[in-house]
Amino acid sequence: MEIIKTLEGMKIAQRRRAGQRVGLVPTMGYLHDGHLSLVEKSLSTCDITVVSIFVNPKQFRPNEDLDTYPVDLKRDIKLLEDLGVAILFLPKNADMYPEGYQTYVQVEKITERLCGKSRPGFFRGVATVVLKLFNTVQPDVAFFGEKDRQQLAVIQKMVQDLNLDIQIEGLPIVRDPDGLASSSRNLYLSPQARQSALCLQEALQLAQRRVAAGETSAHKIRSAMQDVIEAHPDTRVDYISVCDPLQFNELEVIQGKTLIALAVHVGQTRLIDNCLIERI
Ligand code: PAJ
Repeated sequence: MEIIKTLEGMKIAQRRRAGQRVGLVPTMGYLHDGHLSLVEKSLSTCDITVVSIFVNPKQFRPNEDLDTYPVDLKRDIKLLEDLGVAILFLPKNADMYPEGYQTYVQVEKITERLCGKSRPGFFRGVATVVLKLFNTVQPDVAFFGEKDRQQLAVIQKMVQDLNLDIQIEGLPIVRDPDGLASSSRNLYLSPQARQSALCLQEALQLAQRRVAAGETSAHKIRSAMQDVIEAHPDTRVDYISVCDPLQFNELEVIQGKTLIALAVHVGQTRLIDNCLIERI
């Protein structure tokens, strides 16, 4: 595996591609099975797979976990090497955002809700870094997880609105054996907190069962989910959303394709999860 640490090095590698299909998997590292599912999809559908690891400071607010975000580069390199990844791209902060940096990508409406509402500036940071990675790597296709469904929608909107010639592929949520959606931040959870964290998946399953049994009131679903979460110690709901999966507008009546998404603080750790349902 070639490890490239400079933007120039990545551009040189990009010029060697000679018509091969390049897949990019952008990550912030501390890799888990969710990340690896994206890598495997790229490996099986592209000629060259580039994985980037960059903990992007522009998507963290001052009170968030930038300084404590988990890092284990040695382990990440081994995992990617074992899978057969061609290029690991490790850009440096000073190269991505040199002194005087002042250009940002702002996707508008769909970033005003859910995670965008509770983490102002988050999607501006994400869209900016992803566009910079796209420009440097110039992939044919880029892979993102549905665990961050709003992030996926923001990237798709950016690609569409800015006429980028890159295919965006969304892949299903990968879960740990206990049902918790795999996440680098799960590392922060104590054994008790991990137990409480199962409330996200429980709340989603309850919502799915209620809708399957005929419930159409979004309000009742939100409130039943809230009850599930509050029954677990040390939890605080950030949001529970029953919305349309394209614009993320809250619904009153559940009909057709519906996204159920939630963010919950478990102790000091903020976790997200979601599921898509269809009521015909
Ligand atoms: P990170 O949290 O490291 O996630 C990298 C990619 O892995 C994202 O596309 C995310 O949706 C996907 N992913 C994470 N957990 C997953 C799971 N359990 N199942 C499936 N896919 C999962 O998301 C980011 O980094 C950053 O915002 C980034 C896009 C790299 C921009 O900085």
